[in-house]
Amino acid sequence: MPVKLVFGEGAGGDVSAEMSELGCRMALVVTDEHVATAGGAFDKLIRGLGPRLGGVFRGVTQDSGYTVIDEGAKMAADAGADCVISVGGGSVIDTGKGISVVLKNGGSIRDHMGVNILAGPQTPHIVLPTTSGTGSEVTNVAVIYDSGEKRKKNLLDHNIFPNTAVLDPEFLVHLPPAITASTGMDAVTHAIEALHSVMKNPVSDSLAMQALRLMGQWLPVAWAEPGNLAARGHTLVGSNLAGGAFSNAMVGLCHAIAHGLGGVARVPHGLANSICLPHVMRFNMEEDPQLYDQVAEALGLGSGEEAPGWVLDMARRMELPTTLKDAGVAEEALGEVAEAAMTDGAALYNPRPVFEPEEIMPLLRMIWAGE
Ligand SMILES: [Fe+2]
Repeated sequence: MPVKLVFGEGAGGDVSAEMSELGCRMALVVTDEHVATAGGAFDKLIRGLGPRLGGVFRGVTQDSGYTVIDEGAKMAADAGADCVISVGGGSVIDTGKGISVVLKNGGSIRDHMGVNILAGPQTPHIVLPTTSGTGSEVTNVAVIYDSGEKRKKNLLDHNIFPNTAVLDPEFLVHLPPAITASTGMDAVTHAIEALHSVMKNPVSDSLAMQALRLMGQWLPVAWAEPGNLAARGHTLVGSNLAGGAFSNAMVGLCHAIAHGLGGVARVPHGLANSICLPHVMRFNMEEDPQLYDQVAEALGLGSGEEAPGWVLDMARRMELPTTLKDAGVAEEALGEVAEAAMTDGAALYNPRPVFEPEEIMPLLRMIWAGE
């Protein structure tokens, strides 16, 4: 595993020891307003850092962006930080990845966007996830929103794997049920898309199947009982394994469309995946009815044909909207979403090849209306 994993209730109170192991002296903590004011585990982390805390950058909003990353990197440089500690969901972690790149190389994050162009390790980066969704703590990708082009762009590089991921269930007890549900469905999507990817392999399959077992059993419990530390712990590990799976196997058309929906219509990432996934699975099954047999095996279903229905039931059980219409997306936006999806790299790994926006328009209309 390229990222050191630490798991345990209260583990966030001892991040200073992880800094020592990385040879770091001063940290910038990157987070958002919600996490920074939630108290509890976050306060414990701050106290534990003591004199090694160079500052708290709490300016991350929904989706990482160029300006926010550059501002965070400036704050880190001014504080003399030699370590970035990200505490949050996917947007915070991806912002942390960006800051660690700019702190090392200078300039703006715009100058460093690309695929495997970074030379050598970046500024050490420790991640504490506060959602059981993104898996970004163990991936080599940062998804960054370009507000000028209204597109989500990928920074994909083997040198942006975080150094250490600290999985502490206590960080999740304040997560509201609706966010538990949508981010959890992102993890479910990572596992299922890793299992149908053209890059799938025995290693990613193993990670994805165990991720699905954990998420299937424990996500509804975490949703219903936010303070249940066992459920929070199992889903944290589940989303982490799903992150490991898709870092190896990549994702697919569902993520390509979700990125398009995020860029064009600002639909939150997990919710976009949750709405699209059952439809994308049925679309893919038209070419291969056996495609989801491994998903069925992991979830204890009779056959792969039941898998899309299982995903839809899970979303309904957690009271998530299940159509783009109900999520507030204008039908007129679908054309632009299709174009954005077809320029997204994730589409390349979908088992059913798609190339032109017109090919997915009937699918998008179905996802919009829900039938
Ligand atoms: Fe995702």
